Amino acid sequence: MALPGRKLIVVSNREPYRLKGGRLERTVGGLAAALDPVMRASGGVWITSGVKGRGDISSRIAVPPEDPSYVMRKVPITEEDMDGFYNGYSNRFLWPLCHITLDRVRFKRSYWASYGKVNRLFAGAVIDESSGDPAVLLQDYHLAMCALSIRASLPDALISLFWHIPWPPYAVFRICPHRRELLEGLLANDLIGFQLDAFKTNFIRCAQEELGARFDPEKDALLRNGRATVLKTLPVSIDFEWFDSAARSGEARAFISGFLKDRGLQGATLGISVNRLDYTKGLIKCLDSIEVFFDKYPGYRGKVVFLHIAVPTRKAEPYKSYRERVRKRVAAINKSLSTGRWRPVEYIDADFSHKELAALYGAARFIIVSSVYDGMNLVAKEYIASQTGLAGCALVSEFAGSSEDIPGVTPINPYDAEGCADAINGALTSAPAERKRSLRLAREHIRRNDIYKWAGDLLRELERARWQNISSRTSKRSKRR
Ligand code: G6P
Repeated sequence: MALPGRKLIVVSNREPYRLKGGRLERTVGGLAAALDPVMRASGGVWITSGVKGRGDISSRIAVPPEDPSYVMRKVPITEEDMDGFYNGYSNRFLWPLCHITLDRVRFKRSYWASYGKVNRLFAGAVIDESSGDPAVLLQDYHLAMCALSIRASLPDALISLFWHIPWPPYAVFRICPHRRELLEGLLANDLIGFQLDAFKTNFIRCAQEELGARFDPEKDALLRNGRATVLKTLPVSIDFEWFDSAARSGEARAFISGFLKDRGLQGATLGISVNRLDYTKGLIKCLDSIEVFFDKYPGYRGKVVFLHIAVPTRKAEPYKSYRERVRKRVAAINKSLSTGRWRPVEYIDADFSHKELAALYGAARFIIVSSVYDGMNLVAKEYIASQTGLAGCALVSEFAGSSEDIPGVTPINPYDAEGCADAINGALTSAPAERKRSLRLAREHIRRNDIYKWAGDLLRELERARWQNISSRTSKRSKRR
């Protein structure tokens, strides 16, 4: 899968593995889940962050622990820089800006200073790991300024950045005080990947308005200062076969029967939602829909239980307060609706292993993905891949990329609680043949467009993007002659 003669270097803020109880475990979230299988297959180095003085940040660790196939290298970052870079610029500014939750956007100049500094530290580690000209896969909105510094030392490195979250329309992006610098930083990449065409179109408009860049539709590239940056829509995916076989395994069966027994849920019809605890995931809206569902369709009381799994990964504000709001909402619903031993919502904030999740997905009769805005949402794909019995139903927000990407899902509008309640009832009353048909369609799509295909396409496009630059330089030279 790697490019011949080039070392593969992935860079992301979130580490793919973390130490938990003395053991290395894969971290929660779409990004690590998507890229770990790729790195296992291709080898190379994954550069990530570590906070100085917190836990073990030994610089190079072979992972995964059971079958070491690549190296994880941590870049030591001070607590203060991390706060400005991650909690500040990345999560209090870029995240809400790109997800168009503008009342949550906070900006401080010190955030921007830390962001630049930490991006340069990441770039330094890339340069240090490089022997020759590497292929560098930068991941996400934390690293917009990285390519510029790498390019200064390694002009012939192949550099791409995949923007996992939405790119906002120009009218929203204009809020960013450093919009020119950010765009210039991004255009130092050979290739930028987006989840949906709409995000790519938004990006083109921003670069045209702010930098006067020219878009060449034939090359699919933005041209500026003699450089071409190719833009591609490449919806990210999952390791379909892995989830499919995990859900079929004896381990999954054993886990699920223990889980149901421990919680007294045998015989219940299960609904599920699985998220990082984040306001963009519309967790409160999802709970509102559940409440309306039991009000509108009281016949399901005592029979249907909703597993609301919300794993906190960001610990600073506004996430602390949001967690409290979610907890209170769950408690209020359970207080008003519970009867006897039945509780409508099982709220779980512990993280499950991916194998356990596959088992839970496989057992759930429906899933709700309630994001108010989402680049892709891989949970929808994981659920579908784990639905080996073809009995479930995926209710996916129209505002999550996955509802556009996957055929066969049922789109829902998380702002319309009654509509969502009706969709749940629809899922529970739909004919088995209809559910089978939809799931087959969705599964086939994800099977064909899995994470390996995504990574292969990304690397192929990256190599092509490089040729784009070389050929445009050559044709300019020959024109001059
Ligand atoms: C989600 C997004 C990713 C992002 C990650 C960061 O998974 O889809 O694009 O990188 O969140 O989450 P974290 O918990 O590391 O802040």
